[in-house]
Amino acid sequence: MKFLIINGPNMNMLGVREPEIYGHKTLKDLEAVIWAYCSDKGVDLEFFQSNSEGAIVDAIQEALKDDDGIIINPAAYTHTSIAIPDAIKAVGLPAVEVHLSDLNSRESYRKHSFTSEACIATIMGKGFDGYLEAVDTLLQALK
Ligand code: DQA
Repeated sequence: MKFLIINGPNMNMLGVREPEIYGHKTLKDLEAVIWAYCSDKGVDLEFFQSNSEGAIVDAIQEALKDDDGIIINPAAYTHTSIAIPDAIKAVGLPAVEVHLSDLNSRESYRKHSFTSEACIATIMGKGFDGYLEAVDTLLQALK
């Protein structure tokens, strides 16, 4: 079993960007937490981060080669991109959308997600734990 974990724009700035919202830990810390969680679950992981919408679409298409599921935090593209949910639908792999923060308690323009309709679940407001819940959601879906 292999999952592709995608983080969108500015997620490479974790630890620096708005720590009052996103915390002090880095993207590398996040990856280490997910690796540790998956170590005894028989799940292999591939991590991808990009600030470019097209690169994220390419990564989703590539997932068809050898990934069983996708965990995606599309970051700001959540609220603007049609291409990303289209790509998720195109490959037909189960995908779970994750957000560190609770979008419903932030600016009104963050309340709508274009991505969520292509995903089997959306998890938000749980920080790094949201990604771990997403792993379990995918494992459950792929049983
Ligand atoms: C985010 C929420 C988005 O609205 C924002 O643009 C991000 C991060 C989150 O993880 O809480 O970059 O996806």
